[in-house]
Amino acid sequence: MGARFIYPHRLIAHRGGGTLAPENTLAAIREGHARGYRAVEFDVMLAKGDVPVLMHDDTLERTTSGRGALPAFTATQLAALDAGSWKDARFAGEPVPQFEAAAQLCVALGMFANVEIKPYAPGGDAVARATGHVAALVSQRFWGNRAGEALLSSFSSQALDAARCAAPAIPRAHLFDAIPDDWDMQLDHLDCVALHCNAKCLTAELANRIKRAGYGLMCWTVNDPDEAARLFSWGVDAVCADRLDLLTEVAPFV
Ligand code: G3P
Ligand code: MG
Repeated sequence: MGARFIYPHRLIAHRGGGTLAPENTLAAIREGHARGYRAVEFDVMLAKGDVPVLMHDDTLERTTSGRGALPAFTATQLAALDAGSWKDARFAGEPVPQFEAAAQLCVALGMFANVEIKPYAPGGDAVARATGHVAALVSQRFWGNRAGEALLSSFSSQALDAARCAAPAIPRAHLFDAIPDDWDMQLDHLDCVALHCNAKCLTAELANRIKRAGYGLMCWTVNDPDEAARLFSWGVDAVCADRLDLLTEVAPFV
């Protein structure tokens, strides 16, 4: 039986502000907040020296003015990059933020944080564990006394295991692009409280089994109000959205 997890909000802004702001920046988190969102998901990766920063890709090209592999750069070097212009000129100069700054902002804005541990993939298991360890320790510092305001998640079982060792009290969710047959054993093995899955892979029957087993259930990425309503009717607790402008009336911001 999974441990029960209560999502404080049904809508979660993906990568900070969905597609309405440069992903994984502080500006994105502010954008989500300004649009009424009170829950946010972002990705945490380790820069050089094991300093956690917000980044989705292993390399800098797509979302910043830099080039190369993220762990080749210090957090200070990353902070000097432009991570906003690729999205819109009004975000020019927006830096790659440190995880600590994002955590601080979430606490200040009263936003629930779904911290996705995103290990630099070429680093293998060792980097996955280090990323989980560091992300959990920082989370413990910001949310250790704020139960229910943060949830760690990862595709990586190594990262989740390291997070559990470092900060067992910060709840964890397992991410799946496709839900494996042994999802319940995997969640149980890592003491996860929730399952996060690609909305495309969920069925009403699977949702029912996951909820009956007592786990929290979140789906990404959902931008269609009808799809969100259908998922909620299956028992899904929360959805992660890119189009924050479209997904506003499905779930009232409670
Ligand atoms: O945490 C949900 C979602 O963000 C997982 O996929 O690639 O957008 O990090 P990705
Ligand atoms: Mg993510």
